[in-house]
Amino acid sequence: MTPHNNASLGDYADAVLLPGDPLRAKWIAETFLDNAKQVNNVRNCLGYTGTFAGKRVSVQATGMGQPSLSIYVHELINVYGVQTFIRVGTCGGLSPSVRIRDLIIAQAATTDSAIVRDAFPGYAFAPIADFGLLAAAVSKAKEKGLRAHVANMLSSDIFYHEDGFTSYQKLAEHGVLGVEMEAAALYFLAARFNVRALTICTMTDCLVTHEEMSAQDRQSSLKDMVRLSLEVAVQS
Ligand code: HPA
Repeated sequence: MTPHNNASLGDYADAVLLPGDPLRAKWIAETFLDNAKQVNNVRNCLGYTGTFAGKRVSVQATGMGQPSLSIYVHELINVYGVQTFIRVGTCGGLSPSVRIRDLIIAQAATTDSAIVRDAFPGYAFAPIADFGLLAAAVSKAKEKGLRAHVANMLSSDIFYHEDGFTSYQKLAEHGVLGVEMEAAALYFLAARFNVRALTICTMTDCLVTHEEMSAQDRQSSLKDMVRLSLEVAVQS
């Protein structure tokens, strides 16, 4: 159907979870969805549709970074008619107040990306989450007793920054609690095409203390985040 997606029209549900990693998309489909069916395998950027709590929902990998995510999300909106997106990712921590395994729910996303900057010459556009999804995620996280921070997220185009944490310090002092590589482009596209989006990340590595999550913790923490996100996706 598109150069990047061989799903047919109608193959995706109205709501789609967006992990970066294709194998995480497969794991989410196999672990959480009933009757999951693979709908996309172009470039091994896997997509699945199944049901969760009896409601239809999809999961589609985006690859890493804002250019890659933008391709999949643009097509999911404009070709497949998807209305609701929840990115489920990992992020680096920029403050000692965020512990390994904590969730950061991105209320807004600051970015160094030209994708957002160049769309609004003369302005610093603020890419923001959908308020309904954000409110639902915050209230469900509370119900479940999960440690969740609602904060500004940095979506950077650079993973290996030459100056490390130093380059993020000023942002951290202004409430930017995590760094990942996709949320701002997702929110920007959601605003452009009037759909709903949210990003939830598990903090896996702290750039301040250099603490990292163990492989074992990774799986169980990601489970909490994915279950929360699926509940929000199917109720909203
Ligand atoms: N930087 C960018 N993206 C990330 C990081 C990071 O340190 N950790 C997990 N995703």
